[in-house]
Amino acid sequence: MTRRLPLSARGNLELDRRLEAALEGEREASRERRCPAATRRRGLRYALGGAEVVSFCSNDYLGLADLRPPGPAGAALAPSGAASSRLVCGEMDAHREVERSFARFVGFEDAILFPSGFQANVGVPASLLRPSDTVYSDALNHASLIDGLRLAPATRRILDHLASPPEASEASWWFVESVFSMDGDGPGLEQLDAHLGRGGCVYLDEAHAIGLHAGGRGRAAALRHRPSVLVAPLGKAFGCAGAFVCASATVCAWIRGHARGFVFTTAVSPVLVPRINHALELVAGPEGERRRERLWRNVELFRARLGGHVDADGASPIFPVLVGDDRRALALSAALLERGWHVQAIRPPTVPENGARLRITISAAHEPETVERFAAELCQLLEQAPGRGAA
Ligand SMILES: Cc1ncc(COP(=O)(O)O)c(C=O)c1O
Repeated sequence: MTRRLPLSARGNLELDRRLEAALEGEREASRERRCPAATRRRGLRYALGGAEVVSFCSNDYLGLADLRPPGPAGAALAPSGAASSRLVCGEMDAHREVERSFARFVGFEDAILFPSGFQANVGVPASLLRPSDTVYSDALNHASLIDGLRLAPATRRILDHLASPPEASEASWWFVESVFSMDGDGPGLEQLDAHLGRGGCVYLDEAHAIGLHAGGRGRAAALRHRPSVLVAPLGKAFGCAGAFVCASATVCAWIRGHARGFVFTTAVSPVLVPRINHALELVAGPEGERRRERLWRNVELFRARLGGHVDADGASPIFPVLVGDDRRALALSAALLERGWHVQAIRPPTVPENGARLRITISAAHEPETVERFAAELCQLLEQAPGRGAA
């Protein structure tokens, strides 16, 4: 489906080497954790390694996990529950198939499906980082990355927004969003490549880029070196829920056995998996291309109409209108609502102090005429009472 991004960066190779050795140690100590493959699942009966078994290890206490809505439409659906962590009752073919498809799509060796991006970011960092590691974390990183790093045993250094880490070695990680959720900007690809090329590791959250750039594969698709870990939440451009964590096969094997947000949680509902598959097919195919074209046309239209009122170059569908004062942001949001436009005022602590703003997002599902009308009325409002960042 797509080329695989090279693993070549020294930090990535060293990470693989370290985790492969740790996995080998676990195998020798009979401590290795693997998700057994459970196929042909019908309630508590399934095939494990080819043999038919009856489960006595699920949490399906009332036998409802296999339930489907009544009637022919319901019978065609996947069962609602997975009944346990994938490490306990096993993983269904569908989970692994969608993970492999996504990994191929973004050019990684493997991927793991988490219940949400938040859970992935809270669970994965502590499983990979060591006390001897230094993590450089962008000052505007998402709450989930901040919380995930709080749980990790590494030294944390906060980087000025969009600054690169001052040093790179296999013990230095850069945690960053490829497109920032509240600002719509992101680090330069050359900055990311330079850190990886100098032997550092990169944990890249593509929440607001996956599906939108490079045929839907995200900003990382244009890198020369593969990020050490890529997180692709599916609640945004994919219109679903859940998140893929992508990495080398070794790093994924390690995460499956060690990330607490994967080990100690019930697997993603089987109902969702075909929806994710379908969204992936759409995003990767001509329909995705059509939607991306419509999206970027709308983005360009909005950017052109808003001119100096927005602090964004149109490289993402996120347009912050910086206001500064919380009350003014709320008043602008209320004035828009009166005119039939819903735009939330975003205030601290989601954004820094004095960083209150309207966060406007453009979609392929907007009619261009709607974008035009919205832009005109927004400009009118901002010109009546211009605030910080407004022309
Ligand atoms: C950058 C970033 N990472 C992670 C998440 C969390 O993803 P999810 O909604 O799948 O929990 C979000 C959601 O707002 C986000 O903006």
